[in-house]
Order: sequence, then C-alpha cells, then structure tokens
Amino acid sequence: MAGVRKSDSPRLFNAIAKRYDLLNYILSFGMDIGWRRRLGTLLPAGKGLRVLDIATGTADVAIALARFQDNVGEVTGVDLAEEMLSLGRVKVERYELSGRIRLKKADALALPFQDKMFDAVTVSFGLRNMPDLVKALMEARRVLTDGGRIIVLEFSRPSNIFMRIFHAVYLLWFVPAIGCLLTGHLSAYGYLAKTVRDFPYGDRFKRIMRQVGFVNVSCVELAFGAATIYIAERQSKVRDARAS
Ligand SMILES: C[S@@+](CC[C@H](N)C(=O)[O-])C[C@H]1O[C@@H](n2cnc3c(N)ncnc32)[C@H](O)[C@@H]1O
Repeated sequence: MAGVRKSDSPRLFNAIAKRYDLLNYILSFGMDIGWRRRLGTLLPAGKGLRVLDIATGTADVAIALARFQDNVGEVTGVDLAEEMLSLGRVKVERYELSGRIRLKKADALALPFQDKMFDAVTVSFGLRNMPDLVKALMEARRVLTDGGRIIVLEFSRPSNIFMRIFHAVYLLWFVPAIGCLLTGHLSAYGYLAKTVRDFPYGDRFKRIMRQVGFVNVSCVELAFGAATIYIAERQSKVRDARAS
C-alpha cells in the first residue's frame, strides 16, 4: 500500500481494521478513551439529541456518547470503510445499543441526509483523512440544525519546545514502528504521521471553521497540545435575522 493518498484512506482503514482499536490505544498511551469521553461532555444542552458521528470507524465515539451522555437520543455513525463499520456493529451489539446507534456506509463529503437533521455532529480523528477538508466541514454544517454544534477531536502539535521534540520523534519513529509491528503495514503508519504533520491545527483550523460559516469557534488542548478538541456552532435563526 505504497504512497497512500487521502482518497485511499478508507481502503487503508479496511486493511488495518482488526488491529485499529488496539493500535489507537497503544499509540495514544491509552489517552484516546478519555479524549472521546471528554468530547461527549461538550455536546449542546437539550434532551434526546440527534447526533451524527462522521468517520465513525469502529464506533467508539458513537458508543461513548450513547453510554455516558444522558442527553443523547440517537447516534448515527457514517464511514466509508466497511470493515471498520462491521467491527463497530459487533461492539454496538455487545453494549446492547442497537436501538440507539445506527451505522451506515456513507461519504462525509456527500452526506446522504437532508439539511438540518442533527443537533450535533462529532468527528474524531477523521477530518485529517478527508481529501477535501472544507467540503467535509460544509457538509457537516449543512446537516446541523440552527444553533447545532460541531465537535472535532483531532491530533495537533504541542507548542512547548521539549514536548515538540518528543512529539516529532514519536511521529517519525514510534508511530510507524509500532504500526508496522502490529499490522504489517508500514506505509499505513507513515501515512498517519504525515497527515498529523500536515493538518492545519490550532488557529489555522479555527479560521477555516469560521470561513465555512461556523460561529462561536473555540478549542481545548489535550495532552500538552498533542490533540485538540474544536467546538463551533451553526448560527441560530435569531442571530441570522439580526445579522441580516
Ligand atoms: C482514524 S479513523 C477514526 C475512527 C474513529 N472516529 C475514531 O475516533 O477512532 C478515520 C476514519 O475516517 C474514515 N474516512 C476517511 N475518509 C472518509 C470519508 N470521505 N467519508 C467517511 N469516512 C471517511 C476512514 O474510513 C476511517 O475509518
């Protein structure tokens, strides 16, 4: 799988699906579980929320939301990698959440949903893999209700100089080495490191969110900035009317 392109990423995730959860755990030193739960605490207020989890993979975010957030009604998870979704379906069954979580094969760049169907959209470690980041954000905004919220969890790069050096070594050596050891796909984890390096994190990403039309954009850094949660909203009707 040499020279992986972003448009090939669902094929890549199909290939590593069986080891994906374990690798995630090892490569994040176990912190990914807490990060996904933290994401859930940033959902908007309200009851029976309809949530869309984009690039849901093996459904860890969907499951965390349905298990731990009382205000979540239904979660729809979409992904293009069928193997990741299959493993997700097994986990959803195991937690007896089939009545509240629906997993569907769909492209984040052309979501098969009508406008304004969801109160919240979540994306964890997914946007980095999209061939068109802006289009993915525009689609997420389109399906959000007025005042609805998007919450994005994505890798970023620490600002502290010592953490930055550690992080660079981690990306250059540790990620490909452990990835290759456990999956046999060196290029897959070289790809992972490259997408982390290339992602427009921090203020750059917040600017892109505003350009797409989101408002109230903010972020929370995790693990010295190795990951960041971005929160933004689709403008509510009242504010739209005031602005025009
Ligand atoms: C790193 S995994 C993240 C999975 C999960 N959200 C998590 O937190 O572990 C990235 C996922 O993005 C999916 N993906 C990539 N491009 C996509 C697209 N255009 N539409 C939907 N999913 C996509 C891949 O198939 C893969 O499952």
